[in-house]
Amino acid sequence: MKISKNIETLLNEQYHMEMSSGLQYMAMASYFLTQELNGFANFFVAQAQEEYFHAQKHFEYIHTVDGRISPLAINQARAEFESPLHVFELSLEYECEVSKSICRLTQTAMQEQDYATHTFLQWFIKEQIEEESLFQLMVRKLKLIGKDPAALFFMDDELSKRKFVKSGDEA
Ligand SMILES: [Fe+2]
Ligand SMILES: [Fe+2]
Repeated sequence: MKISKNIETLLNEQYHMEMSSGLQYMAMASYFLTQELNGFANFFVAQAQEEYFHAQKHFEYIHTVDGRISPLAINQARAEFESPLHVFELSLEYECEVSKSICRLTQTAMQEQDYATHTFLQWFIKEQIEEESLFQLMVRKLKLIGKDPAALFFMDDELSKRKFVKSGDEA
């Protein structure tokens, strides 16, 4: 099976978007380490690993359907943040952009009657529902915490337990 040039370009953009997400989440992990919030940093390192795994899935699929990776610009990661809440609000916004991009790609696959790519993308649609819901929950928790340092350090301890599991599921 061979994909169209148009789908190949869009899949390439998606691959780069996942790589950019990984770099962005590493920049956030780095910010948290400077704030002595190592659990939050661990959460974002695991999140970055998940994004690189998503990129790898695109890489493998593109080659399975006889396409190839064409190097594109990686978005410059943001490095300055006002607070943990600010980081999670930006992450949520970013995940919503990724979801929209995957939906646009799915729509194009449907228009081109590319059922293989359409099927491949179903996993990502499901994944984005989880990603958005996770970041939404974190934003709500941080709003509840407000300026309570004890609650923030409790959450930091919780987040230190997150591990990336290669299946895409999380421990
Ligand atoms: Fe992703
Ligand atoms: Fe994501």
